[in-house]
Amino acid sequence: MRCGIDVGFGFTKAVNEKGKEVVFPSAVSKTFMTDIGLKPTSDYFVTYLNQTYAVGEAATQCLITETSFSEERFFSEFSKLLVLTALMALESDREVELGLGLPLMLYPKLKEKVKDYFEFLEEIIIDKNGIAHSYHIARCEVFPQGVGALFSITSPVEDGIYCILDVGFRTTDVIVVEIKSKNINPLLDMCFTVDKGMSLAVERLGLMIERKYGVSYDTSLLFDIHERSHISVRGRKIDIEPHKKEVFRAIADDIVQSISRRLQRGFDTFDAVLASGGGAFTVASVLQKEFSNVQIIENSQFANAKGYLALLSLGL
Ligand SMILES: Nc1ncnc2c1ncn2[C@@H]1O[C@H](COP(=O)(O)OP(=O)(O)OP(=O)(O)O)[C@@H](O)[C@H]1O
Ligand SMILES: [Mg+2]
Repeated sequence: MRCGIDVGFGFTKAVNEKGKEVVFPSAVSKTFMTDIGLKPTSDYFVTYLNQTYAVGEAATQCLITETSFSEERFFSEFSKLLVLTALMALESDREVELGLGLPLMLYPKLKEKVKDYFEFLEEIIIDKNGIAHSYHIARCEVFPQGVGALFSITSPVEDGIYCILDVGFRTTDVIVVEIKSKNINPLLDMCFTVDKGMSLAVERLGLMIERKYGVSYDTSLLFDIHERSHISVRGRKIDIEPHKKEVFRAIADDIVQSISRRLQRGFDTFDAVLASGGGAFTVASVLQKEFSNVQIIENSQFANAKGYLALLSLGL
C-alpha cells in the first residue's frame, strides 16, 4: 500500500491511497506496559524491540519525551517509531511504498541517507492489545517538503512562478518554484526558512494566562490549542477563544513581517501564493487582506503528506 508521511517538528501527518488520514504529535517516550492502564483508545502505545513507547498525544503527557530537532531526527529510531506508528494507525498492509519528505534546505544533503535508512526495512511493532503488525518497506522515495504540497492540488497548475508558504509548528518555509511545461524548478536562492511557527501561540497563550490569572500553566497541555476553546485553571473553566484570536493574529503578523523582510520581491509579483501547513489559515487570512493572489491549499495540514503520495503514484 502506498503511504505518504510528513514527519513535522510538531505533528506527524500520514495518508494512504485509500484516503485514510491520521495526525498525531511527533513525540515519542519510553514507557512501561504497567503505565498504560485504562487509557483512551486513541492513544498509541507500541512495543518495538522489547521496549514499550508512548507515541503522539500519549507521549506529550510523559515526563521525559523525545522531540528531536536535530538533523539526525530524519533517519533515527525516533523517526522510525513515528513512521511505524503512522503505518499502524493507517491500517496499512504489510507491503509498503513509502513517500517521505525533507525540508528543502536539507534535501540535497540528506535525501539518500533517509532513503537508505527506510528502504527495504522489515519491522514488527506490537500494539497495546498485543497484536503484532509487520511491515516491509519495499520502496521509499524522499521529496522536498513544500514542493510536495504543490502536488496535493488536484487541478494542474499553470505555468508561472509560485510562492508556497508552509506554516508549521516550529518553522515557516518559503519555497519559490517556477513551473514551465509541467516541470517544477525550485528557485533555490529565493527559498528560506523562518524559525517561527504556530508553536509561538502556545508560548504566548501560556504567558497571557500567567499574567491574567497569576498561575503558571503547563504549556505542554496546549499542544492542541487550535481544537480547544476552554482550559481549566484552578478548577475553573476559562474561555480562551478571545485570547486565541488575539494571539493568532499577532503571530500571523509577526510571521508575515519576517517573510516580507527576507523575500526579495512583493507577494503580489507571484502568479499565486499558496499557503500550506497547520498555520496556513491563520497566516493567509492576514495576507489576503492585502493581496488577492493568496490561496489556502485545501486540507492544508495534510498538503505535504498528500503530495508525497501523489508523487509516489506518478513514479517520479
Ligand atoms: N485549523 C487550525 N487552525 C489554527 N492552527 C492550526 C490548525 N490546525 C493545525 N494548527 C496548528 O498548526 C501547527 C501544526 O502545523 P503542521 O502540522 O503543519 O506543523 P509541522 O509540520 O509539525 O511543523 P514544521 O513544519 O515546523 O516541522 C500546530 O501548532 C497546530 O496548533
Ligand atoms: Mg511541516
